Amino acid sequence: MKVDYDTLAKTIAALTDGESDQIALMATIACEVHHSDDRFDWTGFYRVTEPELLKIGPYQGGHGCLLIPFDRGVCGAAARTGKVQLVADVEAFPGHIACASSTRSELVVPVQNSEGDIIAVFDIDSDQPDAFTEQDARSLDLILKDVFAR
Ligand code: SME
Repeated sequence: MKVDYDTLAKTIAALTDGESDQIALMATIACEVHHSDDRFDWTGFYRVTEPELLKIGPYQGGHGCLLIPFDRGVCGAAARTGKVQLVADVEAFPGHIACASSTRSELVVPVQNSEGDIIAVFDIDSDQPDAFTEQDARSLDLILKDVFAR
């Protein structure tokens, strides 16, 4: 099963229409994205709950570590730089945090609110090497902007 981003974006827009609670929005997106593609083995959010710190948010998959400082891991790099992190081989990423030893590649997209503040990162892990493309990054970034920066 391979994601159809047009359909996914429409489904998420319809499901989240009129909702502003960030946890409800994140839970819905994590669920819809996770089940849209066989490449996605862990899908979820880490929220910025205090300066320089990410805390686990809504997710699907095996357990994720609870806290990630901004100076650690792929998620920390996304939060720190505000830039998408597309990691084809997690073992080659310095400081990668292995929540599951089966993870081979990872995509992390920063999430901004309408003021441009980074409120979270959206993390997808795959058990397949080099699972993610620039197209995945662009499409997911648009979906996240539609929901959190509206
Ligand atoms: N691998 C991530 C940590 C989060 S989990 O994989 C769920 C990282 O290096 O930031």
